[in-house]
Amino acid sequence: MEYHKHIVETNSTNKELGMMNIAELPPYFVLSASFQSSGRGRGKNVWESEKDKNVLMSILLFPNIAPCHQFHISIMTSVAIYQCLTCNYHINNVKIKWPNDIYVNDKKIAGILIENNLRGEKINHSIIGIGLNVNQSQFSENVPNPTSMYLETGKTFNVKEVIDGIAKHITIIDNNAPEKTREIYLRLLYQLNTMATYKIKSQNNLILSAKIIGISPNGCLRLEDDKGKITCHELNDIVYL
Ligand code: BTN
Repeated sequence: MEYHKHIVETNSTNKELGMMNIAELPPYFVLSASFQSSGRGRGKNVWESEKDKNVLMSILLFPNIAPCHQFHISIMTSVAIYQCLTCNYHINNVKIKWPNDIYVNDKKIAGILIENNLRGEKINHSIIGIGLNVNQSQFSENVPNPTSMYLETGKTFNVKEVIDGIAKHITIIDNNAPEKTREIYLRLLYQLNTMATYKIKSQNNLILSAKIIGISPNGCLRLEDDKGKITCHELNDIVYL
């Protein structure tokens, strides 16, 4: 069984992998593409990527975890990309912007879109979509705050090797102790223990000055304000300002 299929063009690697016969595919099967005509981001976002320049991949996992622990898939994937960028490519100052954006020097280099297929009380399979900017040097104006491996290092890279590197790190991490991976994730959180401003939608768009102190067991973001009050926020509740 082949573990990696590359296609020249698709609408979205997540969508295309979701339409394959999942039951016949091995764990960690990778579908990658040179170009996506309608790459998807989290929520209503789109993912833009110049043809042939970047990582556009989806990897298939069969996680043996309950849906209430699904945030661990975000943790694993973020840490795998971090490790690939730092260990394989020696890129410094890589951070994870909660929940799972990968930042280098305050700019976004990679995004993750996780789509879980639930069956009863279990996650049947999980499709993890990863977009990582590798050799792209210019981005359209509507892409907020982007960077790429090229922009950070001045070097160009072999995209296939980067895809293989990420897949390898995911495979290793999936077999590591979850607590250890969670510890690494927490240490890498962007703006950890640093006062910053956040908009809290559930509180009438309150502008809150607070620091990130961690995440809750189910992955909500924990903030502490200057009076020591701790609050916990879900993904759609909070905007980084
Ligand atoms: C985000 O930052 O909002 C998530 C972006 C995820 C983009 C990747 S590219 C490969 C895979 N296929 C998609 O359509 N989206 C993900």
